[in-house]
Amino acid sequence: MTLKRLLLAASAAATLVALAQPKGAGELPARDQAPSTPETALTLDDKALYMEHCASCHGESGDGKGNEELERPARSFLLGGYSYGNTQKAVRRSVIHGIPGTPMPAFGATLGTDEINAVADYVISLGPPGTIVQPGESVLVVEDRPVVVKGMMPAYEQGAFREPRSLIVGFPSGTTFQFRAEDSRLLTVRQGEFLDRRDWGGRGGSELQPLGTLTWKASRASRDFTEFVDAESGQGLRRKVRRTEIKGDDVWLHFDLLDEGGTRVGGGQEFLSFLMVNDIPVPMRAILGSGESRAVKLRELPGRESRANDSVDVTTTSDGLVACVLDDAPNMRIYLHAPAWTPSLAAAFDASLRKKD
Ligand code: HEC
Repeated sequence: MTLKRLLLAASAAATLVALAQPKGAGELPARDQAPSTPETALTLDDKALYMEHCASCHGESGDGKGNEELERPARSFLLGGYSYGNTQKAVRRSVIHGIPGTPMPAFGATLGTDEINAVADYVISLGPPGTIVQPGESVLVVEDRPVVVKGMMPAYEQGAFREPRSLIVGFPSGTTFQFRAEDSRLLTVRQGEFLDRRDWGGRGGSELQPLGTLTWKASRASRDFTEFVDAESGQGLRRKVRRTEIKGDDVWLHFDLLDEGGTRVGGGQEFLSFLMVNDIPVPMRAILGSGESRAVKLRELPGRESRANDSVDVTTTSDGLVACVLDDAPNMRIYLHAPAWTPSLAAAFDASLRKKD
């Protein structure tokens, strides 16, 4: 969703929060996920597609011995051994999103749906017939839509505690956000595969194992920071997640705003999505809140402040985030997981504000 739409949704949602029955705003149409039929695959020359796009790494016969020098060997398709599954759905996912952290590129932007289905069917057909490999049994894979999982996460840095109640949100692009459930504070952002759900035999619950590489973690200061304050007393308000919602490609966390005594004074949403900057997805979070029994406002954010343009204030934080507040939505802060407000980020931000969808 574009920022423009988010702004509209934000004001609608704010009104709804005030009415104490938030439902988000605007239903998105159901996504078209029609699987390919064999007929469509047959009309394409799947072998030619494979030769053009895949053989340089996976080899002309599919034996994993292509001409390209790789730091990691490409998969041989002849043996039927797959780490990420060989169902059409699983292979399509590997092809569309690539395998982050390995040379396997993402073809989602270069090949069309039919072409992807055709190469997927082709590589599956190279393996021994009848072998179906599901993605590693305990490995949770994000396919076409974001996934939200609750569970225990290991300590994310030395000296930190395990996070027994975490909320983990995985996106098809390979980004994983980890929140603490109590206060819906973002703890880490990772990039790569999603989660391994190990079972410790029911003793003390099972710990989830994040599989991606850590790209951001909350600094000590940001862990104590409360986004909203009581407008009158200046007292910080704690966020408590009430429910999560997956809408199309985006995820919404609906939260209550609680004062020190645990009394609910308002509510809001955190919206998780991406801003495309030069074809690279930059994780984006928008946090929006409003009061009910009392007025609430955003707390000032430590960092370097600047006026980006007529309507946007930007703060660059010390822990590698760019935070924007728009005049139109003074109770919404948008975090971009980028270390600086660069011209290309600014251009993508502006374009998203202008774009109607
Ligand atoms: C630049 C080299 C490169 C190209 C081009 C490439 N791949 Fe890959 N591919 C890899 C590597 C390396 C891996 C192994 C990743 C790993 O270590 O897990 C891989 C893994 C895969 C997997 C996952 C296998 C598993 O273990 O589950 C699939 C499926 C796949 N490739 C399909 C394709 C298809 C189809 C194409 C063409 C559209 C293609 N690849 C093009 C390098 C490449």
